[in-house]
Amino acid sequence: MSLLEVQNLVVEFPHRRGTLRALDDISFSIAPGEILGVVGESGAGKSLTGAAIIGLLEPPGRVAAGQILLEGQRIDHLGHEQMRHIRGRRIGAIFQDPLTSLNPLYTVGRQLTETILTHLPVSPAEARTRAIQLLKDTGIPAAEQRIDHYPHQFSGGMRQRVVIALALAAEPQLIVADEPTTALDVSIQAQIIQLLKNICKSRGAAVMLITHDMGVIAETCDRVAVLYAGRIAEIGPVHQVINHPAHPYTAGLMASIPDMEQDRERLNQIDGAMPRLNAIPPGCAFNPRCARAFERCLHERPELLDAGATRAACWLHAVPSEVRA
Ligand SMILES: Nc1ncnc2c1ncn2[C@@H]1O[C@H](COP(=O)(O)OP(=O)(O)O)[C@@H](O)[C@H]1O
Ligand code: SF4
Ligand SMILES: [Mg+2]
Repeated sequence: MSLLEVQNLVVEFPHRRGTLRALDDISFSIAPGEILGVVGESGAGKSLTGAAIIGLLEPPGRVAAGQILLEGQRIDHLGHEQMRHIRGRRIGAIFQDPLTSLNPLYTVGRQLTETILTHLPVSPAEARTRAIQLLKDTGIPAAEQRIDHYPHQFSGGMRQRVVIALALAAEPQLIVADEPTTALDVSIQAQIIQLLKNICKSRGAAVMLITHDMGVIAETCDRVAVLYAGRIAEIGPVHQVINHPAHPYTAGLMASIPDMEQDRERLNQIDGAMPRLNAIPPGCAFNPRCARAFERCLHERPELLDAGATRAACWLHAVPSEVRA
């Protein structure tokens, strides 16, 4: 069974003039222990997808349709308190800026032990031992001393390690990490991503890793979902999506990964920009930018279709009706 199941998720923002549909019919699942990458341009809907799952959509944003299931249990319509409990115990969250996850007034040890004591049946002494071990596991040197330090006494990279320790403290089955290294110095981003991957794999925690960096996806994830204008353009095993993209948008994204061997002149960007939510064209949302668009793309919206080893929302993969019959 899937650990997480997102089914036909729609997120809307009521607006003075009508409703903005920010996520439209998003469906995917994550298996236990699996790392799913979620990639897409800024504004594609990555963070909203993560926020809907962890129950932190900011009003007036709301789940307008669809459902979210954790181990088969619906979690999208739970109350604030129930969701808070799930968020600590069963789903851990890591955000871009480590300071949003840490309380500046408490030592990291206090924050770790409080989380452990809230969710796990252990004594305070045992919780402290566990907290020290978590800090060691996340690569904090001199953890026995550092545990009594405050967040501001850590560097940005070390703080994000503490946040990873905190997210894992109650042994959740799923970690939602939204651009966890974007705020960090470029030189330490890869280390933190490797840490996140290794520590989650070793504990069997599944990860939904949100990033705009296809290189990070390639090195870290088992599967990847490509978002475009609030919809999934393509989803599949990471090597298939990277090496044999089935959706023209994914193909464009792959071509735009800077290749160290080549000079930057050859960097192949996709012309045009992703549409605003209030100006998504009918048919395929990508059609104004797509070199392969044809008549059907202009007025009929493609669902996710089987496209070899991946699934792609693109009419190029439609089975001709005479074959289907
Ligand atoms: N509070 C809000 N009100 C209206 N639109 C919003 C709000 N929050 C996000 N959006 C819109 O939802 C879309 C997806 O946002 P987001 O999930 O943050 O994108 P990403 O994380 O992929 O960059 C964007 O077009 C954004 O403008
Ligand atoms: S459905 Fe048409 S416009 Fe959309 S990506 Fe496929 S070919 Fe391009
Ligand atoms: Mg975002």
